[in-house]
Amino acid sequence: MKLRLKVYLASVYLLFITILFLSYDGINPQQIIAMSGFILLATIFNIDVIRDLQSNLGYIIILPFLVPAIVYLEPFYAVLFISVTLLFIYHKHIWFKKFYNISIFGLSAYVTVLIFNYFFTNINATVIFTPSFFVLLLFLTFLNTILNNIFVFTVVSLEKGKFEINGFIGLVSTTKAAFITVFLGLINVVLFYYTNIVGVALFTFLIFFAKPALQYRQIFDNELSTYTNFILHVLKQMDPITYSHSERVKFWTVLLAKKMGLPTSEVRQLSQAASWHDIGKIEVPLEIISKPGRLTDEEYQIIKTHPEKGYELVKDMHFFKKFLPVIRYHHERIDGKGYPLGLKREQIPLHARIVTITDAFDAMTADRSYRTGMPMKDAVEELIRHSGTQFDEEIVKIFIEALQDEYGKNYEKFDKEFIMSIR
Ligand SMILES: [Fe+2]
Repeated sequence: MKLRLKVYLASVYLLFITILFLSYDGINPQQIIAMSGFILLATIFNIDVIRDLQSNLGYIIILPFLVPAIVYLEPFYAVLFISVTLLFIYHKHIWFKKFYNISIFGLSAYVTVLIFNYFFTNINATVIFTPSFFVLLLFLTFLNTILNNIFVFTVVSLEKGKFEINGFIGLVSTTKAAFITVFLGLINVVLFYYTNIVGVALFTFLIFFAKPALQYRQIFDNELSTYTNFILHVLKQMDPITYSHSERVKFWTVLLAKKMGLPTSEVRQLSQAASWHDIGKIEVPLEIISKPGRLTDEEYQIIKTHPEKGYELVKDMHFFKKFLPVIRYHHERIDGKGYPLGLKREQIPLHARIVTITDAFDAMTADRSYRTGMPMKDAVEELIRHSGTQFDEEIVKIFIEALQDEYGKNYEKFDKEFIMSIR
């Protein structure tokens, strides 16, 4: 360790111990009880297992407890609160790192408490609801965060022997986190005033269990896109024809769904469903899928099994529940002559009726190795010709409007190269 760094660490430690001694003002049982409550709650809130459950945060969550500690604890007990809590939270760190963290958090807390006490000495029901009280606490929270970051920045820069810009990036993410958690701290200030530590404890446990529940949606979406990307990557390697077809169908589906005015969440769901609509083709021999020209009757029968095969493949996977109608029914026809079940009109789910159109549209317009796709104008005429028999006429109308909005009345602005580059 560099000498400069050693001197710096030693002075921070010394400063911390000095303020701890200087601020000591005798034993106060009430303060000890409140402080112990805060220590216990803050430690539990930051236990590794629970932090994993909450989400993988790189930082500790201390503000919900530090904010009421600033308000209700005397400087000595506030500093002691943060020190003991960090001692528990950082129990795995090596001693000088642990002690450095404790010292800097302790020093920042000390400064914050002093400023707070300068403005408010008497806490009562009127004071805690005044705007100035609220603004001061907000300001002190940010001051506290900035002070901590300056300390971290200094030690990292000294360690590396150069100005460490990453220290500032850390400031952005911790300030963002502070902004979210400071409000929990303000609620705890009010709860502590009326119910003492009991209300704070109840509220903490409520947040504890509510947070993973609230984050469930986000975790679910992340997992889904991870699975999606993984399987689509495999599909891309194994069957690039089906893969790029699906990506183009996704493109057309989004264009159509937006024109239909579907809510954003549904557009998103449909676009994912479009990616997956032909997943059953992984069970169809590649020679049949990539065969140039006409298929024999027997080959066609095999191809026709793909919606049902796709459905069987993913039907038990929770993540795909919402895509099942598209996977299974995108080859049904309005007149009931489609497959696999021969459903009619509204019996066919809306999402499937949408993808039936975009799927056929791509099949007609896209270039294949052995043939060039139809001009867009001709493909649109095909859609119109089969409206009310193969396709839902209302949706076809909207699709044509969407295409004309995008590419002009005669589709003259359409760039074939662009669509074929989607893969
Ligand atoms: Fe299909």
